[in-house]
Amino acid sequence: MKSTPLVFDYQSSTPCSRTVLDAMAPYWIDVWGNPSNRQNSLGLHSSAAISVARDQLASLLKVSSQRLIFTSGATEANNLALLGYARARAIEKGFPGHLITLSTEHPSVLEPIRQLKKEGFRVTELQPREDGIIQIDQLIDAFQKDTMLVSIMAANNEIGVLQPIAKIAELCHERAVKFHTDLVQAFGNIPINFNQNGIDFYTISGHKIYGPKGIGLLVARDDLNIQPIQWGGGQENGIRAGTLPVPLIIGLTKSVEVSLSKLDYHSKRMRILLEQLWHGLNNELSDLILNGSFDQRLPNNLNFTVKGVNGTLLHKKLRPYLACSSGSACSNGSLSHVLLSLGRTAQEAESSLRLSLGRSTTSTDVASVIAVISKVVNHLRR
Ligand SMILES: Cc1ncc(COP(=O)(O)O)c(C=O)c1O
Repeated sequence: MKSTPLVFDYQSSTPCSRTVLDAMAPYWIDVWGNPSNRQNSLGLHSSAAISVARDQLASLLKVSSQRLIFTSGATEANNLALLGYARARAIEKGFPGHLITLSTEHPSVLEPIRQLKKEGFRVTELQPREDGIIQIDQLIDAFQKDTMLVSIMAANNEIGVLQPIAKIAELCHERAVKFHTDLVQAFGNIPINFNQNGIDFYTISGHKIYGPKGIGLLVARDDLNIQPIQWGGGQENGIRAGTLPVPLIIGLTKSVEVSLSKLDYHSKRMRILLEQLWHGLNNELSDLILNGSFDQRLPNNLNFTVKGVNGTLLHKKLRPYLACSSGSACSNGSLSHVLLSLGRTAQEAESSLRLSLGRSTTSTDVASVIAVISKVVNHLRR
């Protein structure tokens, strides 16, 4: 059942695809044993299913299977990468070091880094340029003698801009600084060279790629020392304790497989729809400000500020016809730190819309959303 006529919020989450559901089905009721229990065939079957999935994921991502750490989502994977690596490294060196990130990162990167600051690490939070993209020179200037870690996402969840992660990885690699990148929004939407030298660890999430909620993946170089952030039965080589969710792991694997195999088709199709959307809105309405670069952008994200309207009213009037966001799904209604970082005022941030397209979005949906937004905005501006 569709709760709203038009859904343009596929960066918040995606529906689990039928193929993924079918792949998961046997692991809820037939193969239900605890994969950590090797004392009977129930547990052994579950454990074997995870081994097969792990190998398949490793081959899809072109890494060795020891590098995959399953988590409860990308939030946990980001926390584990940042807290786990920084703390392990501080213990090794005997002092906390310096970290670099971007002010427009997702809270699941910014908050653990702020926690590290409280623990004595020094942090540089770079501001992006007005188009949302990092200035490489600023990054070069920010490196310090004891910089240990850089975390910069590949694609922004609110404004869709693409960061030059290949260049960032290269700069980190040259300086023997570890580089973590949050690939949650980029994965399945743009091609990524997972094996590029200098990408030391990255994060993905099941529910952003038509897989299940509650599963994420941290892919880490096997020579990285990562401290656990939770303790228990020693699963995942002691790095992430907790019974592995077999159906979710099978679902994540299937959603990764489908996302990578259909990437080209979906991303080209969505880019065409994105152009239709932005040009169509501009034909109908004046005074729309694009947030973030249009060229260096995910094919499924549009974010713009509507000048001359009250943001609260705009969202309220659109809500019956359209599911979209003003910013990140995790922002709890507070003003978007991403839009403020680009220099938007609080009022502009409030009257901004994030429209995100999905695999099932059609050209007719795009025409309808243009009509709905134009009607509401024209009404409010009258
Ligand atoms: C860029 C980015 N990173 C991390 C997350 C958190 O992912 P999860 O919901 O799997 O914890 C999100 C979710 O919105 C996101 O967009």
